[in-house]
Amino acid sequence: MQTIETALSPKIKTEPVPYLDLPAQLHGLRPEIDAAIARTLDHCSFCLGPDTARFEKDFAAFIGAEHCIGFNSGTSALHVAMRLLNIGAGDEVITTPFTFIATTWAIAYVGAKPIFVDIDDATFNLAPELIEQAITPRTKAIMPVHLYGHPFDVDPILAICRKHNLPMVEDAAQAHGARYKDRAVGSFGAMSCFSFYPGKNLGACGEGGALVIPKEGAEFDRRARALREHGSSVRYYHDEIGYNYRMEGIQGAVLGVKLKNLQKWTDERRRVAKRYTELLADTPLQLPREAVGAESAWHLYVVRHTRRDELKKYLEVGGIGCALHYPLPLHLQKALAHLGHQAGDFPVAEKAARECLSLPIYPELTEAQIQRVVKVIRAFFAKTR
Ligand SMILES: Cc1ncc(COP(=O)(O)O)c(C=O)c1O
Repeated sequence: MQTIETALSPKIKTEPVPYLDLPAQLHGLRPEIDAAIARTLDHCSFCLGPDTARFEKDFAAFIGAEHCIGFNSGTSALHVAMRLLNIGAGDEVITTPFTFIATTWAIAYVGAKPIFVDIDDATFNLAPELIEQAITPRTKAIMPVHLYGHPFDVDPILAICRKHNLPMVEDAAQAHGARYKDRAVGSFGAMSCFSFYPGKNLGACGEGGALVIPKEGAEFDRRARALREHGSSVRYYHDEIGYNYRMEGIQGAVLGVKLKNLQKWTDERRRVAKRYTELLADTPLQLPREAVGAESAWHLYVVRHTRRDELKKYLEVGGIGCALHYPLPLHLQKALAHLGHQAGDFPVAEKAARECLSLPIYPELTEAQIQRVVKVIRAFFAKTR
């Protein structure tokens, strides 16, 4: 077998494709973003302010929900979701072990226990058929994640929630613009949370997040606004222990500009995913596929292979950026060792963690760049057999 370095042709080596290209996205929007930030500076509306309020309205409309509350991160929004549901010590929340750890932080922050349920091998999302056996009298909510932008299977999970009278909290941090049965994700649960971390499909120029409440949520809305502002609805009067979780005015202004482009960007991500799927169809990679009724927002395009680590190194040497989401499932994380899990507890998640590899995907990715990524992948399988 040739080494990875000698197997790469010099031509392939010369044309890098970054994993993420935020400058490409910002470039075209700079005049509008500069003007929005300048307006915030002129008004000194640094915390919340009119641009954040406008963005909240516009984002609620985009999702098809009644309420949106801006936060300083998706993690904060998830934390407040747990508080709104009065989840606390001794309670359990069912969730996935295969997600970014912030999903679980929210449960841990209120002193509750995350109860992991293994994932579906095809979609990487919580497996609905495994949920019911994890429900106990202490279960207070089910929190699935629309991982990589692909909707989880909403209907069967909602049916379980209704049967057991449990709220569903959607972690939609990666899924702005994804649809399930032609309805935007984030509009199904009792509430949903989004992240506007810069690399997300809708990213701020800094940190940001939102809590979305589909309907009949006036009381949740009122309390969430108070919780993000030190537990206070009337200045200097504090009704419960709260946080400083306000969205910055500048982020509200930037997100307002970017939101206008989100549908176009989602369409472009769908173009990239479609091309990868066409061009990689006859390779040994296991490719991501949309489930019936699901329209992914393609936050990530995650392929699978047993020789993932070798392929990753080969791509990197060939100038192709790639990443692992996620190399270690949550039940095996040191921070959650107190839960007492061990290897083998969630075998589907563990296998996914060993095999997954995220390829570059963003709206600005050109056909030539896609071809380059595919070429290096093909070279890997041709030359390192
Ligand atoms: C699935 C998921 N949940 C929650 C979060 C937390 O969002 P934030 O980074 O904005 O706090 C993220 C962000 O990476 C995420 O991917």
